Amino acid sequence: MSFPIISCLLIISLTLFSPATLADDSPTVYEVLQEYNFPVGLLPKGITSYELDTSTGKFTVYLNKACSFTIEGYDLKYKTKITGTISKDRITNLSGIQVKVLFFWVNIVEVTRDGDELEFSVGIISADFPIDNFEESPQCDCGLDCVNGIGFQGEKAMEFSFKRLVFSS
Ligand SMILES: *[C@@H]1O[C@H](CO)[C@@H](O)[C@H](O)[C@H]1NC(C)=O
Repeated sequence: MSFPIISCLLIISLTLFSPATLADDSPTVYEVLQEYNFPVGLLPKGITSYELDTSTGKFTVYLNKACSFTIEGYDLKYKTKITGTISKDRITNLSGIQVKVLFFWVNIVEVTRDGDELEFSVGIISADFPIDNFEESPQCDCGLDCVNGIGFQGEKAMEFSFKRLVFSS
């Protein structure tokens, strides 16, 4: 008598849990980056979901909120939706990631990996960075300096001294 019940339960639990297990097996966006030979640090923490067409490499990545931080003296801004086309060592037609050059925010349109270097291209100009800078994913607001929060506090301190300057004049 208990046998059919147990097998019933087994079938129910299998039906209930197999889709969840399948979903868990799909790679994270950071694993996808690595599959294409890119470091995880190319994307910040806080990615909520992504879509990837593996036949064309076209992708869309969604962040829970727009994100900005400073790495190696560069101000970077990630929008809530990032699109592009990924292939091994190469991301083209990128949209949603910006870097501040002088006083302007410009789109990073292409990222290429060349050995231990990552090349970021904003159209006519490009800059190379050693891949070690991208070993871990930066966090919104404080980038890679989140333990002591230097990035964020530095910005606050600057804002404060700027305000004082304005008020004292
Ligand atoms: C480039 O991206 C845009 C969206 O940002 C898309 O509409 C367009 O089709 C893409 N072009 C190519 C060549 O993939």
